[in-house]
Amino acid sequence: MITLNGSKKIGIAVFISGKGSNFKSLYKFSKKKNSKFKINLVLSNNINAGGLKFARKRKIKNEIINYKNINLAENKILYILKKNNIQLICLAGFMRILSKKFLKKFKGSVLNIHPSLLPRYKGLNTHIKVIQNRDKYSGCTVHYVNSKLDSGKIILQKKVRVYKRDNPKSLAKRVLSQEHILYPKALNKILINT
Ligand code: GRF
Repeated sequence: MITLNGSKKIGIAVFISGKGSNFKSLYKFSKKKNSKFKINLVLSNNINAGGLKFARKRKIKNEIINYKNINLAENKILYILKKNNIQLICLAGFMRILSKKFLKKFKGSVLNIHPSLLPRYKGLNTHIKVIQNRDKYSGCTVHYVNSKLDSGKIILQKKVRVYKRDNPKSLAKRVLSQEHILYPKALNKILINT
């Protein structure tokens, strides 16, 4: 839990690598009166990430990080986070793993959204695995990030029904629409007003 000072919103950074639909939904929520956070920065390792265009259009500060050398990339990220007064990072489809060293150095919290009901199906291709195993339910999870992949403390989860007619694509679409609701909700849950 993170305590806020008075009515001030906490400054967050969203890390993306692709479409950035979760970033967009976080942004939309951040504009609401009851939001306890504001997006100060969007960061990507991918120059073509769809969310960057959205950020530029809305004049949200955005940075592209060259990940050829992880150590240099992470040091640069730490510098940028400090400069922009970032107290919390939301990973949203960020396809890089933050090192143990980075997590130790960054003094704020790091959150991630994962398209399964963790601890089931950590890592990639979750929807394919759910369909192959004929699970009745899948879903999404917002959790804290620690040094083990998709293993940090769970903040919120949402169950999604899997239908017989589902394929990985149709399931991904339904889960993603729930992710868009769950992520802002999880953030507001851990940010406590004083
Ligand atoms: C989401 O399914 C998220 O759970 C996973 O990557 C996907 C990102 O989608 N970590 P988007 O870029 O937010 O649209």
